Amino acid sequence: MIQTKKPRTLAEPFKIKMVEPLRITTPEYRKQTLQKAHYNPFLLRSDDVYIDLLTDSGTSAMSDHQWAAMMMGDESYAGAHSWEHLEETVKELTGMPFVLPTHQGRAAERILYGILGGKDKVFISNTHFDTTRANIEFTGAQAFDCMNEESLKPDTLLPFKGNMDIEQGRKVILQQGAENVSAIILTVTNNSAGGQPVSMENARQVRALCDEFGILFVIDGCRIAENSYFIKHREAGYDGRACRDIAREMLDLADAFVMSAKKDGLVNMGGLLVLRDKALTEKCTNLLIISEGFATYGGLTGRDMEAIAVGLKEIFDEDYLHYRIKSTEYLGSHLRDKGVPLVQPFGGHAIYIDAKDLYPHIPQHQFPGQALVCNLYVQGGIRCVEVGSVMFGKYDKEGNPVNAKSELVRLAIPRRVYTQSHIEYVIDVFDDILEERDKAHGLKIVYEPPFLRHFTARFEPI
Ligand code: F0G
Repeated sequence: MIQTKKPRTLAEPFKIKMVEPLRITTPEYRKQTLQKAHYNPFLLRSDDVYIDLLTDSGTSAMSDHQWAAMMMGDESYAGAHSWEHLEETVKELTGMPFVLPTHQGRAAERILYGILGGKDKVFISNTHFDTTRANIEFTGAQAFDCMNEESLKPDTLLPFKGNMDIEQGRKVILQQGAENVSAIILTVTNNSAGGQPVSMENARQVRALCDEFGILFVIDGCRIAENSYFIKHREAGYDGRACRDIAREMLDLADAFVMSAKKDGLVNMGGLLVLRDKALTEKCTNLLIISEGFATYGGLTGRDMEAIAVGLKEIFDEDYLHYRIKSTEYLGSHLRDKGVPLVQPFGGHAIYIDAKDLYPHIPQHQFPGQALVCNLYVQGGIRCVEVGSVMFGKYDKEGNPVNAKSELVRLAIPRRVYTQSHIEYVIDVFDDILEERDKAHGLKIVYEPPFLRHFTARFEPI
């Protein structure tokens, strides 16, 4: 008989130099706290949260190199050497000539889509992230998501489930008129569709579609390093290539790059707008100076820019990326083995639970995802976010609610923050969630703002 060796535990490729204590609370305490927060975890105090999986955005632990670089931050108003570091790093990564720093991703979106948008304008994407859609719609323009039906099913096993459906994209262009389409935005990885990767082949097809109709191609690449890891391991011809080179190959296809550095920039704050076109850059720079700051700092301090410059290099460390994707997969595979319905294959930065399937007795308009989010907090002090009808639900002209296509809950994993035992704890909490699934009940909205309602909406249990 062949003896196969048990694979070694994939341990974290870093060690801990500084600790941040976590407060342990009881389910009783959390029940009261959640009620005070109107059943919306965005309204909780972080001190009342044990494991915070609300987002992987701005929640990374920085490395000693990043902290050291921050001490070298040049806080000059104009022409700081910290800006030069950042600009050089971004140009090297993207191959694009014009770099605009912003305080976070949505500021870059507001600037770019504020200029490209407006009434009668149209944007096409695989899936617009919620801030992307909001910034587009705020200008009066329309945002169309183009996803294949198969990719939207939670458990179809496709290697690149984040891809844009090119034929749907073409239909939108023909219906709306190419002259009205301001840009095609490829979101990599596709956050709102389960953190799923986009293939290089799909990026090439988007390029071809843009060329055919003379449309601008924007990559929203805040998780482009994670996407590159998936390409390396899933797409023919990329095995053995460095993830950094893969990212560059994809960016070479695009006309513009929007990045929230709070994800794969490994920092707590920062964003980038990177362009090839000089005239568009000039317009964007004007808006940048009016609303963010001078062109050599945007919304950032010198030390922020140093940290991003280092983070954008560290993120492409192949051992780190391997650990990152595999550790997310570890959480997913253990939840799957317990019978938790999940979006599969697993995303790069998060695991998405299919709450409609977990709680089939809660109708969509009573927000099964929000119910799960609340139960995870009460049971385990775990905070996460609903990605379903709370986030994407709308009202039709008669004021009737229009539900989202799916009711997901996202467990986003902050980068380099939690250890394997934290993740084991999360896996254990799901035993209670599964045991009590029949007792779960829906919620109703009692307050909501006109845009991005999930952040501040208030709920009451039904
Ligand atoms: N694009 C994508 C794909 C994103 O995931 C985000 C943020 C943004 C743009 C906006 O960037 O937050 O820096 O302004 N996503 C966070 C999340 C908020 O939790 O997924 P930002």
